[in-house]
Amino acid sequence: MSQSHAPCAQRGGHGHPGLIDRYRNRLPFDSDDPVVSLQEGSTPLVLAERLSERVGAEVWLKIEGANPTGSFKDRGMTCAVSAAVREGAEAVICASTGNTAASAAAYAARGGLRCAVIVPEGKIATGKLAQALMHGARVVALRGNFDQALALVRELVQRHPIALVNSVNEFRLQGQKTAAFELADELGEGPDTLCIPVGNAGNVTAYWKGFSELGLSPRMLGYQAEGAAPLVHGAPVADPETVASAIRIGDPARWEEAMAAMTGSSGAIRAVSDDEILAAYRLLAAGEGVFCEPASAAGVAGLLKYGAEGAERVVCVLTGHGLKDPQTALAQAEAVIPCEPDLAAVERIVTSPSA
Ligand code: F0G
Repeated sequence: MSQSHAPCAQRGGHGHPGLIDRYRNRLPFDSDDPVVSLQEGSTPLVLAERLSERVGAEVWLKIEGANPTGSFKDRGMTCAVSAAVREGAEAVICASTGNTAASAAAYAARGGLRCAVIVPEGKIATGKLAQALMHGARVVALRGNFDQALALVRELVQRHPIALVNSVNEFRLQGQKTAAFELADELGEGPDTLCIPVGNAGNVTAYWKGFSELGLSPRMLGYQAEGAAPLVHGAPVADPETVASAIRIGDPARWEEAMAAMTGSSGAIRAVSDDEILAAYRLLAAGEGVFCEPASAAGVAGLLKYGAEGAERVVCVLTGHGLKDPQTALAQAEAVIPCEPDLAAVERIVTSPSA
């Protein structure tokens, strides 16, 4: 892929360009359109050596937690908010399990727009809530789930001139498809298989769109949590439940598109249990040095459960940073070890064989 790296012409900074500047020729933006960017994208692609050994294939991790707000949502949000500014919108809104809210709030702040986010009360990770609030969004804690929140915001935007920035917004998918371009750029071609967590099914749809535009057809394997697996059951789930709060979704908006990606790529949507998700989450952190949030580990959980299935090169998309959800992390980790300020006491603890 051709990249237009113009080191001096970036918006608001040095270093790599944001997505719209990097991939403008494949995105619906002209050179004089307003761009709201935090230099998102160009995220690390890291070889996971222990995972590779374990499944007998080359396993790469696409570390989307390295985006400015700590999740892949920034790819879609730079496009959705830039388009909203171009259309003259003054406010944006979204329903969210947390990451979309954090990203919308940040890009709205950057673009000088007001932002409201509707999140399921008590079901979003602490870091995401802190982000949305710090970026100045109005945060509504809905006594209901994500699916109800999305239905409500879809009605709201019929009545008010507010831009909806959920992944039902086409610009979100346009931005998110660039992750597939980056994989092709770095690997020289597509992977054999892409393992990716699925919630509202926007991201898997966007990757498939990106690969398709390049004429590539990796096998798309989407993973949902067992308690929130409507695409696996073939029917909406009224009360989705999972430790992976980001993908606690019972009625994905991009249902048909996700299933079309599966058909087109000979892929599948499968379920993994919370225990399998948490095992993969711990393994990535302790065995690969990569801390992602629980939902992000669903693809790796699937890879560990089903194996490489003949693929030589697998990419697992790690959608969000582990720091988003410190509470789940602390609940999974070893306890800290209290100690008096005494050399012998510290020495005993530090040198004792680990459990
Ligand atoms: N991983 C993370 C960390 C997410 O936050 C999400 C979705 C997904 C995976 C699934 O992506 O919805 O495109 O299939 N989070 C949305 C949100 C729903 O509101 O932040 P998807």
